[in-house]
Amino acid sequence: MEVKIALIGCGTVGRGLLEILDRKCSQLKDAFDFEPKIVAISDLHKGSILVPDGIKIKRLFAILDEGKRIDQYYGEGNTAELINPLDMIEQCDAAIIAELTYTNIQTGEPATGYIKKALRSGKHVVTSNKGPAALHYKELQNLARKNDLFFRIEGTVMSGTPVFSLFECGLIGTEIREIKGILNGTTNFILSKMETDGLDYAAALKLAQERGYAEADPTADVEGYDAVAKVVILSNVLLGGEVKPEDVKREGITSLTREMVTAAKQEGFRYKLIAQTRKSGDGIEAVVSPQKLPLTDPLAGVMGAQNALTFDTDLMGKITIQGAGAGKTETGFSILADILTIHRHLRLKH
Ligand code: HSE
Repeated sequence: MEVKIALIGCGTVGRGLLEILDRKCSQLKDAFDFEPKIVAISDLHKGSILVPDGIKIKRLFAILDEGKRIDQYYGEGNTAELINPLDMIEQCDAAIIAELTYTNIQTGEPATGYIKKALRSGKHVVTSNKGPAALHYKELQNLARKNDLFFRIEGTVMSGTPVFSLFECGLIGTEIREIKGILNGTTNFILSKMETDGLDYAAALKLAQERGYAEADPTADVEGYDAVAKVVILSNVLLGGEVKPEDVKREGITSLTREMVTAAKQEGFRYKLIAQTRKSGDGIEAVVSPQKLPLTDPLAGVMGAQNALTFDTDLMGKITIQGAGAGKTETGFSILADILTIHRHLRLKH
């Protein structure tokens, strides 16, 4: 079954998704009767194209790898007209919009506007963008439901490591008492390097930047804002809360020294930047702060840039998942997983 998809944003995640679609095309067709057709791409820096017959992914890669713009896809100076994302969302013939633009945790824009436009134009939306999910999840989900559409956000927390789909499928029917975990790869990498390689904070941060984990401006990572956005999403999606980022008590890792990390290890503990949320009375209590965990805690064993979450559930007790929290292929996969879930529902409907 053909599934028409449009990409808004074609940076790392978009490229990751396209590479998977190209590489696994016959497996996805055989296993799921899934035949994706990319009918439009819009990127702030690389231009935009509408291709109703479907883009040839390898040809697009050849153009991008030569450093050319997406709108040179047609070649020979015959470039497509540059269309802004809002017009493209309305004009394209896609069933699903993959919203893959940059995250703005303060305003959620411009992504939230794109998502609303798509849902009002009768198009399903999948995104890995934390801004709209942290700030406007309920509103966007209600808009999707009102229009009989899907709004899916698997990649916003732990990239393609399943978090939300876990509670739609495998753990369906369980009630979550508490969620606790490591949701920022940069800070976990820094703390790991301070302990295992004896680096001081500044040297560990520099290494995290060199490896591409931390941003050039790492404030959102080291001060805990990135983990706050993720714990807000977990609180609202999995615990049914109405939490805003400013409701979360927050402390980053900048006050931790190599000496504190080493002393904790000698006492049988390990520092981790922990994001935690649980129901409390009628509300939700959510916090992001460094915690000294006993080495016997599964979260204490999570090293490097990995992420992990422990769910405390009523029927299954504690379940811990560990996996990638970022990355081109890993986040590209989260988008594919959401698209395949929508595809499965659409097939059942037909
Ligand atoms: N900067 C984030 C991290 C990337 O280090 O985990 C994924 O959201």
